[in-house]
Amino acid sequence: VTAPVRVAVVGLGYWGPNIVRNFYELDEAELVFVVDRDAGARERVQRRFPSVRGAESLEMVLEDETVDAVAIATPVSTHFELASAALQAGKHVFVEKPLAASSSEAEALAAIATERGVVLMPGHTFLYSPPVIKIKELIDDGEIGDILFVTSSRVNLGLHQSDVSVVWDLGPHDFSILRYLLGELPATVSAMSRSCVLPDIPDVAFINMTFPSDTIAQVQLSWLAPSKLRRTAIVGTRKMIVYDDTATEPIRVFDSGADLPDPESFGEFRLTYRTGDIVSPRIEATEPLSLELAEFCTAITDGTPLRSSLAVGLDVVRTIEAVEESLRANGEPTRLVAPAGSRRPEA
Ligand SMILES: NC(=O)c1ccc[n+]([C@@H]2O[C@H](COP(=O)([O-])OP(=O)(O)OC[C@H]3O[C@@H](n4cnc5c(N)ncnc54)[C@H](O)[C@@H]3O)[C@@H](O)[C@H]2O)c1
Repeated sequence: VTAPVRVAVVGLGYWGPNIVRNFYELDEAELVFVVDRDAGARERVQRRFPSVRGAESLEMVLEDETVDAVAIATPVSTHFELASAALQAGKHVFVEKPLAASSSEAEALAAIATERGVVLMPGHTFLYSPPVIKIKELIDDGEIGDILFVTSSRVNLGLHQSDVSVVWDLGPHDFSILRYLLGELPATVSAMSRSCVLPDIPDVAFINMTFPSDTIAQVQLSWLAPSKLRRTAIVGTRKMIVYDDTATEPIRVFDSGADLPDPESFGEFRLTYRTGDIVSPRIEATEPLSLELAEFCTAITDGTPLRSSLAVGLDVVRTIEAVEESLRANGEPTRLVAPAGSRRPEA
């Protein structure tokens, strides 16, 4: 495939139009089809992008040999069916998070992509968010020291989903960020949740995780909250970071900590607390989705590696499944068994 990649977008509900707009604006892509079975959704998008053809089903697009790639932004229950059809037709596929509704589905998609020799990319947008990339740099440069623990709050009022829990909807963001920053799959997860509004659809979840490196993390997710929080705190042996995705200065690095100097005599206990400078690094104001979709295109044309790799997508689905297993077991910790060789993944 040579640039621009000719792409079709399936699913034009809440999120799909953002994918449409970004592909439309990218030099690396040429948007050729927008697909939704809902005519109203199609018309709304085609009014803004009149040159783009509409289709009511993916099958119509898959027959078109000039279409190189398909981006899927439909509900998670449909990801496997649509993605496997597109992969079988030899198309490169981008699937919005989470990759699929189970790890067996996700692994089956990965197998088809490998067999057909095409790119399969999960859409973990936060891995292209400039603050998250900056935090990863700070960690890799040793600024933070070893990561002791991470806490995260991703709560706001709505949007309640009727088909998936808050763990499937919001969880992929934190699980992909943790997977990227720590470079490892959790060792155990334990969780509790409650279905406050809709019966049997948990809309609040508290998730505790341990990692092979001894880092621990706590993630709070909810669609029922008085105000919107997107706040992650990363506490390291050298420094601490607060990442607030709603703030104009999204990252603050605190030169704070507590030190325990070697006791001069056995049993002596003299802790010193440090509260030094607070630094807010400059962050580019680039739209993450644009960077993400550009990378999908260059992976197709040039074989460049993906930050939101298939391995990340698979691990995120495995993490969600482990959370669900713990929920069924009343919060008992679930051990995650990483497939051979992927405990400390490179990508
Ligand atoms: N990366 C992010 O930050 C982000 C944000 C929001 C949503 N998402 C993801 O995007 C996906 C879609 O979420 P949403 O909130 O936009 O859902 P939505 O329900 O608002 O829209 C889904 C659209 O898909 C269409 N559709 C469903 N099945 C179809 C089929 N078989 N063929 C053609 N069209 C079909 C529906 O008619 C609807 O218009 C989900 O995977 C979600 O997790 C990602």
